[in-house]
Amino acid sequence: MAHLRTATADDIPAVLAFWKTAAEDTNRVGDDTAAVTALIDRDPEALLLAIDGGEIVGSLIAGFDGWRCHLYRFAVRPDRRRQGIGTLLLDAAEERFRRFGGHRADAMVLDDNTLAHHAWSAAGYTVQPEWRRWVKGL
Ligand SMILES: CC(C)(COP(=O)(O)OP(=O)(O)OC[C@H]1O[C@@H](n2cnc3c(N)ncnc32)[C@H](O)[C@@H]1OP(=O)(O)O)[C@@H](O)C(=O)NCCC(=O)NCCS
Repeated sequence: MAHLRTATADDIPAVLAFWKTAAEDTNRVGDDTAAVTALIDRDPEALLLAIDGGEIVGSLIAGFDGWRCHLYRFAVRPDRRRQGIGTLLLDAAEERFRRFGGHRADAMVLDDNTLAHHAWSAAGYTVQPEWRRWVKGL
């Protein structure tokens, strides 16, 4: 049975290895030690991990920036999917957001990631088709 905890700096190599096999998004920028260290330094409770048998089986970043509630790196190890681990992670993230007074959580989801669409829909998330993400490299 998986349990949840927040990540520490010691977890970073395992987290990066986990995302290589479990996470989606070919457009992602900067999954490296410096980036995850910066996240943990800035908000030590944002990176949630699901652990089983001492190994990472799931992850979710529940980022609250003081204004909005953003979810990133929602991933479960392929051999552990459809066992409720994703739900466990989302419930914990939403609970965290509620503690901050957050009213709405959001996630960036690739249009062709139908697997993710099923999971987000099941958790009550819906698409806002009127929005597009505007980005600029820094
Ligand atoms: C998305 C993901 C994290 C879901 O994790 P999970 O642990 O399998 O999710 P859960 O077991 O909690 O599933 C919750 C519900 O979502 C729906 N769901 C999840 N996977 C599904 C699938 N393959 N087909 C249909 N429905 C699915 C179901 O309603 C499921 O409830 P049920 O199993 O009781 O029917 C996992 O599929 C994953 O890691 N995908 C690859 C990475 C990714 O695309 N992440 C999202 C980035 S936006």
